[in-house]
Amino acid sequence: MTTPFLVASIFLLGLSSLTTAANFTQVFESNEIIDFEWPSEEIKSQVLEDGTFKPEHMYPIFMAVYGTRIFFSLYKIRPGTPVTLVSLPTSNASSAPPKLTPFPSWDMHKTGDCNKIEEAKGLEVDSVGRLWVLDEGSYNCNCKIWTIDLIKNDHHTKLIHRFSFLHSLHDLVLDETPNGTFAYIARRYDFNIVVFSLERNQSWIVDTPGKRVNSIALSPKNQEARTLYLYEPFSKELNSISVAEVRKGTRTANPKAIGNWSAETYRMLMDNRGTIYATFWGRNFINSWNTSQPFEVQRFYEDAGLELDFDQFAFTFALDQSETLWMTVLDWNRQPKYRLLKAAVGAKSYIFEASQVSE
Ligand SMILES: *[C@@H]1O[C@H](CO)[C@@H](O)[C@H](O)[C@H]1NC(C)=O
Ligand SMILES: *[C@@H]1O[C@H](CO)[C@@H](O)[C@H](O)[C@H]1NC(C)=O
Ligand SMILES: *[C@@H]1O[C@H](CO)[C@@H](O)[C@H](O)[C@H]1NC(C)=O
Ligand SMILES: *[C@@H]1O[C@H](CO)[C@@H](O)[C@H](O)[C@H]1NC(C)=O
Ligand SMILES: *[C@@H]1O[C@H](CO)[C@@H](O)[C@H](O)[C@H]1NC(C)=O
Ligand SMILES: *[C@@H]1O[C@H](CO)[C@@H](O)[C@H](O)[C@H]1NC(C)=O
Repeated sequence: MTTPFLVASIFLLGLSSLTTAANFTQVFESNEIIDFEWPSEEIKSQVLEDGTFKPEHMYPIFMAVYGTRIFFSLYKIRPGTPVTLVSLPTSNASSAPPKLTPFPSWDMHKTGDCNKIEEAKGLEVDSVGRLWVLDEGSYNCNCKIWTIDLIKNDHHTKLIHRFSFLHSLHDLVLDETPNGTFAYIARRYDFNIVVFSLERNQSWIVDTPGKRVNSIALSPKNQEARTLYLYEPFSKELNSISVAEVRKGTRTANPKAIGNWSAETYRMLMDNRGTIYATFWGRNFINSWNTSQPFEVQRFYEDAGLELDFDQFAFTFALDQSETLWMTVLDWNRQPKYRLLKAAVGAKSYIFEASQVSE
């Protein structure tokens, strides 16, 4: 059963300074079922019966927001996720929690079909309203990348590139330059990143000797020395490389160590005021670091009641175009299982030009 929407103010403060604190508002909560909009009742009962859809196995891990819609990729940790890219309205218009809608359509999804969306991973929205979707592919389909035009009624869904390798895409960031758009892609635990040039329709590997990469973040646009932040799993080390070097086409970059996060991060996000936010496996908090200052970990959000195993995660988040940070909280043990929260943070995504804090 689902519960009615709640709009509640949750009072949360960062530990060290008010500027990193945020007051979150709950948009909705849902106890157990995140349902889909199904093409028909027949399909729904069929997939419920054959186990292709297990409503209790929906784990949003990557997120992007544009206009009045949120996009999630769902983590295929257990069977029962028939589509991995879904959308949700940002507002609460009915008496029940909104339903996840397969995006861009039910028909565009099929595991094992190299021309369909098979397993969505990292998501980003660029400055012209295109959703970028990393697609893991499957056992016989290489990884690929899609763009979906969110302004033109989602009709322009394009498979823009097929990579030369199978599996293990994780997350991406976009670098929009006068010379074209680049995507920098973190795979899971490889000693390199993947660079994709949209205009050239080419991708190549940039080795990061001695450093594995998992999560990735990019400093704001038009910052003088745009910097790529790479997370090295196991050591928990945050590293940086110069974007100028990568744009020039280098095939080897030597990451510089900056500091260590306190836990294993699966997602980093940077705003246009230079703060990096990070979420962690098995942790009930989100940390941040103001990159204008020496490395110092701050607590951005914490939910003391969440209990997680090392292989579980609680949060996913994204910044929208109007300085709101959206976040889902997944509670593996208690109800409500899913919560969608938002907070005005006074910063947009790194996609936008760097902005200074006005105090
Ligand atoms: C959060 O709300 C409290 C109480 O209304 C207010 O004092 C505080 O300044 C707010 N913090 C932020 C970061 O907006
Ligand atoms: C959200 O849903 C609740 C429960 O039905 C309703 O009372 C409330 O007015 C809704 N809020 C908005 C903003 O529509
Ligand atoms: C880009 O390259 C992919 C192969 O990776 C190819 O399938 C696609 O047709 C190319 N797109 C264009 C516009 O040339
Ligand atoms: C764009 O390309 C030109 C010519 O290759 C180069 O001189 C210039 O530095 C590049 N600009 C940026 C922002 O990378
Ligand atoms: C991070 O931690 C590792 C040990 O796990 C240590 O070797 C390394 O020096 C630390 N890095 C930084 C930048 O503090
Ligand atoms: C980050 O640090 C800089 C330099 O100390 C400061 O001016 C800025 O206000 C800080 N940003 C935030 C969001 O607190």
